[in-house]
Amino acid sequence: MKVNINGETKTILAVWYENNEVKLIDQRKIPESVEIFSAKNSDDVYYAIKDMVVRGAPAIGVTAAYGLAMANKNKEDMDEAIKKISSSRPTAYDLFKAVNYMKENKFLESSARRYAMEITERSKKIGEFGNELIGPGDKILTHCNAGALAVVDWGTALAPMRIAHDAGKNIFVYVDETRPRLQGAKLTAWELQQEGINYSIIADNAAGYFMHKNEIDLAIVGADRIASNGDFANKIGTYEKAVLAKVNNIPFYVAAPGSTFDFSLKSGDEIPIEERDENEVLIVNDKNLGPKEGHAKNPAFDVTPHEYVTAFITEYGIFKPEELNKLHKIIQKDLFMR
Ligand code: MRU
Repeated sequence: MKVNINGETKTILAVWYENNEVKLIDQRKIPESVEIFSAKNSDDVYYAIKDMVVRGAPAIGVTAAYGLAMANKNKEDMDEAIKKISSSRPTAYDLFKAVNYMKENKFLESSARRYAMEITERSKKIGEFGNELIGPGDKILTHCNAGALAVVDWGTALAPMRIAHDAGKNIFVYVDETRPRLQGAKLTAWELQQEGINYSIIADNAAGYFMHKNEIDLAIVGADRIASNGDFANKIGTYEKAVLAKVNNIPFYVAAPGSTFDFSLKSGDEIPIEERDENEVLIVNDKNLGPKEGHAKNPAFDVTPHEYVTAFITEYGIFKPEELNKLHKIIQKDLFMR
């Protein structure tokens, strides 16, 4: 991704491996500054995922893959390293997919590099397929951040927008601010800005207003885990946007690589939902929003039932929820992804 650091445009990745360290753009610091976090052992990797130095399902998977290669080189206890890294966040399936991949591939650095490369190339393919769904001048709604920061490069939901923009389609993006951590306002807006794509941040409760006024042509979001029947978990607030899209006859697409599909689950009811610290909701800029002794509930994700999904945009093409059987068979034949 293109990043402007002190007036200089550089191309960097969200996650990479260098000198036996996992390097991450510290996403807690964006958009104020671009800082690099170096993880030197599996404890650092656990902390980086849990504290959301790195976030977004595919990026979490790549970080875990590099983290396990590093732990292996450090001669750490691998059972402990796996246990720790796997317990960092429960919802994104990519984390568990990456851990299994590394187990099966002997925790080699070359395997982690392959994992990162595959995920990156696949997200570009998602972009190419998704671009076909975008018309000139389309206005697109997105939620949370499913951009390059959430993958390694390209993104999932943002990849089609990047490619459509590069093709001169003159798109406009409505960016949900995405409380409580504001991944939309902070990360997605920052990425779109770097790419020169026109956008406006909207308050989380404003999407219905714009949909009703025919201001939104389609919605594209990412996913953290997708069950066999097409129910999917994504950042809290996705569900209500999907319902509103259906009511307003607006196509609602979910962009995700094969690594996010969990075909062991029958439906979204089985997806574990992370509950995060209440202070993420209660405190903004070091100030309490409500009464000092107030409490909050903070589920990080919700599950959108498949009937609200128009189609899934994957590296294998575009699939309606009722076509996921077909996708499952394709994934089973994919030597990297199965
Ligand atoms: O809590 P986060 O920021 O990790 O949640 C991220 C999302 O919900 C993304 O939409 C999802 O991981 C897809 S990222 C390509």
